[in-house]
Amino acid sequence: MKSPALRSSQVNRTSSLIDFGIGQPGFDLLPLDLMRQSAEVRFAEGDTELLNYGYEQGDGRFRQALADFLSAEYASPVGPEQLMVTAGASQALTLICTLFTQPGDTVFVEEPSYFLALRILREDFRLNAVPIPSDENGLRMDALEIALAQQQPVFVYTIPAFQNPTGHTLSAQRREELVALAHKHNFTIVADEVYQLLHYNATQAALPPAPLAARTESGRVLSIGSFSKILAPGLRLGWIQAAPEVVQRFVTCGLVDSGGGLNHFTSNLVRVALEKGSQGEYLAGLREIYRRRIDVMDAALHRHLGGMARWQKPDGGYFFWLEMDEGIDTAALLSAAHTAGVGFLPGVRCSSVGGLGNCLRLSFAHFGEAEIEEGVARLGRVLSEE
Ligand SMILES: Cc1ncc(COP(=O)(O)O)c(C=O)c1O
Repeated sequence: MKSPALRSSQVNRTSSLIDFGIGQPGFDLLPLDLMRQSAEVRFAEGDTELLNYGYEQGDGRFRQALADFLSAEYASPVGPEQLMVTAGASQALTLICTLFTQPGDTVFVEEPSYFLALRILREDFRLNAVPIPSDENGLRMDALEIALAQQQPVFVYTIPAFQNPTGHTLSAQRREELVALAHKHNFTIVADEVYQLLHYNATQAALPPAPLAARTESGRVLSIGSFSKILAPGLRLGWIQAAPEVVQRFVTCGLVDSGGGLNHFTSNLVRVALEKGSQGEYLAGLREIYRRRIDVMDAALHRHLGGMARWQKPDGGYFFWLEMDEGIDTAALLSAAHTAGVGFLPGVRCSSVGGLGNCLRLSFAHFGEAEIEEGVARLGRVLSEE
């Protein structure tokens, strides 16, 4: 392992630990050749604008290429005027909080939710993040209505497709209800749709409903997207899709007035991948790899954890969400699991209220099929010793 001073990646893989807590693509999946070829094409053009400050909203030709890509993937039209380029989804959320919230403001979040988004909301922006229960159809509208009767949120943060951590998807009907409630109660929907395109089962029933991005004309929806999950996280490239007048609020902020468009250079390389179709091909390959990994993890879970945990086989995203019997404390099991050579994210990390102690999240994105089989076997041994 490299010394801390020389570290380059956020996660370091040790040779023996199969850490299903890592919610990132495996290093072997990262598209080095695709990016090298994209860079060669762009550099060969000899255009120094590549290295200038970028246009505040994001390079126009990149936004056009992204809009074309999304229109095809979403099967609903997206225009470049609806897109604001960001340095990833985390920065998109940060920018939204910077511009639309004050410390102490209330926002609603799903229970459970993406643990690091909770950090951004609570620790970076000191927001009052109120948890709203969810179930296998996503955020519960009955619970949301009750909460709305008591408190006024600036926004509701939701991960509508293949949610992190549960893998659940917000149903089409609830999407309608959510948009209607946003109008009625005057709040914004911040839809973190980073998993929308990561669906692995092409049957119609398994595809997520149309993204909330398709509802931005309401002026109530800010949809966040990212290349982290469909290309590479180190690119730090993402976007906010919103109504053009809402996008202007981002375009005129001091950050881009001073620094120019976000990630101008990288977006220019990724434009080549979008235009040449290599982004689409790469995504098709990822879907195939992840679909197989889900099958392997599901079969291994049945073999090694059957009777010890409950889960639903996901149709997309990155995660399996496991529920054990009440009384099992998954956080307390983590150090025994590490000793046995396997890791996971304890459910309590994803809860805003210190709950879900009997749950855990497993990611199938980082490790290949053989390691998934071995890691689940190790987990089964740890749990059966309980
Ligand atoms: C729901 C969700 N949002 C945002 C992110 C981070 O995305 P980015 O790398 O684009 O900042 C993740 C990564 O795990 C995620 O699961």
